[in-house]
Amino acid sequence: MKITVLSLFPEIMRGFFEVSIMKRAIVAGLIEYSLVNIRDYATDKHRKCDDEVFGGGAGMLMKPEPLDAALLAAGSPGVRTIYVTPSGRLFNQAMAQELAAEDNLVILCGHYEGIDQRIIDSRVTDEISIGDYVLSSGEVAAMVLVDAIYRLRPGVISGESLEEESFSKGILEYPQYTRPAKYGILRVPDVLVSGNHAQIARWRLKASLAKTLAYRPELLSKDSLPGEAAALLRETIDEGGWHEPGTGYTGRTDQE
Ligand code: ADE
Repeated sequence: MKITVLSLFPEIMRGFFEVSIMKRAIVAGLIEYSLVNIRDYATDKHRKCDDEVFGGGAGMLMKPEPLDAALLAAGSPGVRTIYVTPSGRLFNQAMAQELAAEDNLVILCGHYEGIDQRIIDSRVTDEISIGDYVLSSGEVAAMVLVDAIYRLRPGVISGESLEEESFSKGILEYPQYTRPAKYGILRVPDVLVSGNHAQIARWRLKASLAKTLAYRPELLSKDSLPGEAAALLRETIDEGGWHEPGTGYTGRTDQE
């Protein structure tokens, strides 16, 4: 997959592509990236990329000419071209999955008040928001998109990890623990060290349901739950539901 990000400050994103899992994916040839500085496509002597808004209003808008030239050079026509903006469609895992099927993505980052609408109308295929809040520019949003998308490409991370995580089954992921089993007075729940895989699966599903009900109840109301899950949800509600952070699923041992 080739990812091209256009921005006035592409350096913000360099480190993101140069470390950890992303770096490995690039070295393995699974991901290719290019960072384009929109200012390189401004033609006037001050390399101006913004101007006042027609009709009045606060702030400056990105001018169409440098954006158009940068998008053309990035090969945008015929390629999924995303503009990240708080006024876009709200990003979610299903969109990440759909975009991960593309072999080429162009992502355009806005600055100031945004970009001239004619660029959106003529070049952009998707306007995407990462959440109901306003960031000072699009780079962080672009990195959020890229991160959620590239990890779904075959070979980047294991299929098993993807299956277990939040949203993959429509609910939030269960709490997880690693060694040591006893950490001071804090103990891993007994069932998880019991070796009983059926009981472990049941505990995990129940904890996932309890957490989803507490934090994201709208995820549960979309579809009716399959038989076992509905019974487990009822059971967890009867037992008091999700334990807020600090009150814990974690077992406690008497002070040693
Ligand atoms: N640019 C500024 N805020 C944004 C948001 N919430 N989502 C996407 N792009 C943005």
